[in-house]
Amino acid sequence: MIKISKRLKAVASYCPVEAKVVDVGSGHGKLPLYLCQAGVASQVIAVELNTNPLANIRRLVQPYVDQVEVRTGNGLQPVCAEEMEVVCIAGLSALIMTQILETATAKLTMTTRLILQPTRYPQVVRQWLLDNGWELIAEQMVEEKSRRKPKTHTILVAEQGKPFNPYQVDKRLSVSDLIYLGPFLWRSRSALLRYQVEREIERWQKSFRRFTISGVEKSDKKRDQIEKHIGWLQSLLDQW
Ligand SMILES: C[S@@+](CC[C@H](N)C(=O)[O-])C[C@H]1O[C@@H](n2cnc3c(N)ncnc32)[C@H](O)[C@@H]1O
Repeated sequence: MIKISKRLKAVASYCPVEAKVVDVGSGHGKLPLYLCQAGVASQVIAVELNTNPLANIRRLVQPYVDQVEVRTGNGLQPVCAEEMEVVCIAGLSALIMTQILETATAKLTMTTRLILQPTRYPQVVRQWLLDNGWELIAEQMVEEKSRRKPKTHTILVAEQGKPFNPYQVDKRLSVSDLIYLGPFLWRSRSALLRYQVEREIERWQKSFRRFTISGVEKSDKKRDQIEKHIGWLQSLLDQW
């Protein structure tokens, strides 16, 4: 069995058994191979924009040539609606991810599940899901060692449904608070979420100090904005 990262294992764990999966931005192709070896997916279409990794992916999935098809193209363009029961997009920016989904909205009618792992800013993806009729059904944060400091990744799982459902979790918090935090991560009081918000506060405090030194009017405005933002983040932690 191919060794894959904790992050990709978490992504794979949300794939229903026997699903027809499209993996957009396959890169090294490890996820399609793992899904076949683990007996999870019945069929995987690996889509890759860049021509460089294509040969590698094809070589890697060669033993599963009947189950995995490698296609080149942008996002979900090379795939038709009937082929995408489950769509996985991992390791791409939230912006590219939402652009891919936005371009394909008309084709997502037969898709039952989205499994998304943006590199940063999961709130951008949560907002897109909410605006486009997708109900978040699960969230998970995983931490992985990296050379400099541990990295946290957020995995979002959504199905067509009632998009506001998960946001009724805590009357003290607004929908936008929960879009930032993640309603499931908040409900479980995820230690990694708390850690991430604390680090975010530290980062803003650092930049607040930078603006304090310069003392010009434009900086005063910026400083006020940062102060407000820190206050908001702190208020979220106060309700932990
Ligand atoms: C960082 S890798 C992630 C690989 C793998 N999904 C993972 O999570 O480990 C991102 C891959 O997505 C591909 N990619 C970026 N934009 C894309 C798009 N619009 N359509 C298809 N593939 C794309 C890149 O070429 C790259 O190989």
